[in-house]
Amino acid sequence: MCRIDALLATLLLLIVFAHAGSRLPSQEVASCPKPGCICNRTHVTCLNSRFRNSDVFQQIHERAFPYIDTLTMTGNNFGDISDGLFTEGEVHKSLSLMNLTGNGITKVSSLTFKGTPALQFLYLNKNNIKQAGRYPFESMKRLRLLDLTDALGRRPAESKADLISVLLETDRRGLVELAELKLSNNHIEKLHKDTFCKVIGLRRLDLSENNLTSFNVAKNCLQSLEALDLSRNSFTTFSTTLWDSLESLSALDISRNPLHCDCTLQPFVMLAKQEKYSFVNQGKTFCASPPNRAGRNLFELKEDLCKPSSWGLGTFILLLAISSACLFAYRHYRSRTPKRSGFQFGYSGLDCEDDAVRPEFV
Ligand SMILES: *[C@@H]1O[C@H](CO)[C@@H](O)[C@H](O)[C@H]1NC(C)=O
Repeated sequence: MCRIDALLATLLLLIVFAHAGSRLPSQEVASCPKPGCICNRTHVTCLNSRFRNSDVFQQIHERAFPYIDTLTMTGNNFGDISDGLFTEGEVHKSLSLMNLTGNGITKVSSLTFKGTPALQFLYLNKNNIKQAGRYPFESMKRLRLLDLTDALGRRPAESKADLISVLLETDRRGLVELAELKLSNNHIEKLHKDTFCKVIGLRRLDLSENNLTSFNVAKNCLQSLEALDLSRNSFTTFSTTLWDSLESLSALDISRNPLHCDCTLQPFVMLAKQEKYSFVNQGKTFCASPPNRAGRNLFELKEDLCKPSSWGLGTFILLLAISSACLFAYRHYRSRTPKRSGFQFGYSGLDCEDDAVRPEFV
């Protein structure tokens, strides 16, 4: 009897405690950086929070947020974050996605991401990175996607190429899991040949919306690359050696480049027509020059680019000029010498034997 009472009492107590517990804020909510952030067990989200420096990360402690897997922090002005984001020595073991879009970040280093070794998705879009210490991403061994769209600050061409190389440089085995890298919209004019050599597993590379005129890769680099986006750059031609170095490449986007569709491009076009390769955005891939091919779709060109096109405007003007010259010379000659024999000589001598053209102008 007494034991049942005790049991009931304990049960009642448990229910009361459980009820009270649900009303208390969780440790994550209690520790949530204020103002401007929303937190739960797994997420910390601070949208457009206008923090002037990165101290806010110091409030996200490993013990208060043991299960955090997603951190979104946007619309701030962090500047230099090369001293490390989180409190020194703290590690967020479950954090797999970090969205740091639009934070005015100017400098990163190997300390910046030291507290996030399990990160798999890192978004650094819309920043102003101008400087990088050595091996900034090295600590994130599981990084799968790195988005650096519109992330780099303005620098001279050579200096920007150096910056990108430093960002992707690693000490030892490096970023073996990194499968997708986005470098779109960064005013890139130049890249060093070995920039991507350390990213051995890269499968997708987005270099769209830059100012590249060439893309050369050192031997034995980017051997896993399957998709390459070179659209909206400044390429006038492409070489077939692109495929010599990129042996896994299956999808290529070269749309919206100012292509010069002449003989230099012919070998590439021949190769492009093989079914082995798929071209993305074919409908947006046009020639910019020469004048007789401007505006025409590269993939719909039937003629051999090394032969002058038979119905092009240039050819027409040339034929017109030759024909006019012939006609002029013929009339001139006939007015001077009425003899028929002289006409025969003058006519063939001017190399104007095209019967199809002549009647139009007589
Ligand atoms: C990152 O945050 C920005 C700004 O809030 C948002 O537009 C973007 O979709 C986010 N990216 C991801 C992958 O969640």
